[in-house]
Amino acid sequence: MTERTFSILKPDATERNLTGAVNAVIEAAGLRIVGQRRIHMSQAQAEKFYEVHKERPFFGELVEFMTRSPVVVQVLEGDNAVARYREVMGATNPANADEGTIRKLFAQSVGENTVHGSDSAENAAIEIAQFFTDADIVG
Ligand code: CMP
Repeated sequence: MTERTFSILKPDATERNLTGAVNAVIEAAGLRIVGQRRIHMSQAQAEKFYEVHKERPFFGELVEFMTRSPVVVQVLEGDNAVARYREVMGATNPANADEGTIRKLFAQSVGENTVHGSDSAENAAIEIAQFFTDADIVG
């Protein structure tokens, strides 16, 4: 089933000039980048995006990190895109990520883990709508 997921290339990726390298892994995995924009997230945007984590001890650190440098927000499309992208990203903690995954290849720590991907189709739709209008997505 063709579906869409939401992705963020995080500040540790833009700071190290790795956005092309990460996109190459995404595309090699059969996902198509049908929407993409480089932005500098505001504190309000980051706090809203990560609202579900607001009670976690790392929330402040997470918002600070996500607003430290530009990010690339993306809409990815493909067969079972949500699950496929989670496979391609690898485990949240790069120490547990499988060989060949984005986090195994590039991530530095559980906090600075290079990419975000939606955890369900329902959340993908909510997250995409926070950063893209329909006109910005060209499949
Ligand atoms: P992400 O998939 O973007 O969603 C929540 C983020 O919180 C997660 O990726 C990690 O970057 C971050 N995170 C999870 N656990 C920790 C932790 N223990 N310390 C700092 N950041 C964390």
